[in-house]
Amino acid sequence: MKVAVAGKGGVGKTLIAGGLAKGFAERGLKTIAIDADSSPNLGLTLGLSAEETRKIVPITENKPLVESKTSTGFNSVFNLNFTVDDIVKDYSIATPMGVNLIVMGTVQAMEAGCMCAPNAVIRALLRYLVVERNEAVVMDLEAGVEHIGRGTARQVDALLIIADSNLKSLEIAKHIHDLASKAGMKQLYLIGNRVMNDTQKEAIQSFADKNGLSLLSFVPYDQKVIEADMLGETPLKNKEMPAVKTIDNICELLLKKTA
Ligand SMILES: Nc1ncnc2c1ncn2[C@@H]1O[C@H](COP(=O)(O)OP(=O)(O)OP(=O)(O)O)[C@@H](O)[C@H]1O
Ligand SMILES: [Mg+2]
Repeated sequence: MKVAVAGKGGVGKTLIAGGLAKGFAERGLKTIAIDADSSPNLGLTLGLSAEETRKIVPITENKPLVESKTSTGFNSVFNLNFTVDDIVKDYSIATPMGVNLIVMGTVQAMEAGCMCAPNAVIRALLRYLVVERNEAVVMDLEAGVEHIGRGTARQVDALLIIADSNLKSLEIAKHIHDLASKAGMKQLYLIGNRVMNDTQKEAIQSFADKNGLSLLSFVPYDQKVIEADMLGETPLKNKEMPAVKTIDNICELLLKKTA
């Protein structure tokens, strides 16, 4: 079970990625959550404190690690033949949700020929996690469309595109969907988040229908999510919250769809 979560800024990617990772772990799957956002905060949602989250050094910013993996002793000549299983062991962080977290850091745009050392490490690490290793993976992607359809994110079982009833977020969802589809990704699902009423549901459903997006689920607007986030607490602790319950149900849906 490998999923990536994408969408416009602020639509609820991190809440949903965190909730899914927690749900997979609770169902007995060994689960790794990858924070691929350059402003990482998935740690908070997975129950780490603000201080613990702040202390995490993203892989791309861990110069000694990157150098130890890629250095050949010659300027601008990188070793590309290195191990990454030890990175997972040494740099993933156990969270109170039973999920191990890896924070990737900023990945430079993959221009033709750009192969800087941190990118090489990230590429190998993602390949290992998504393609080779047999664990559940949930990837919280950077907002927008920049990284869609490129690199290893492309090889996940399912891409979840989050939007709310705001047309801007739906337009970005469509853009992400079209790029991912062009890149050959097969299981693409829209999730309508922060839904307050039937009018919003209908707006999301009709956009999905018109644009060929497959709608997986709605997640209700939940005031308690906002209150928990305000206090710097994870909303995921409270299983009775409607949004948290619904995200947990999405785990079941996904396990069925990708079985
Ligand atoms: N179902 C919901 N009900 C109410 N509030 C929500 C819901 N989902 C998300 N939010 C709120 O929306 C805000 C953004 O959520 P979140 O951080 O998960 O989005 P994001 O897409 O990861 O944002 P970014 O692009 O900045 O990483 C948060 O304040 C969160 O509390
Ligand atoms: Mg986020």
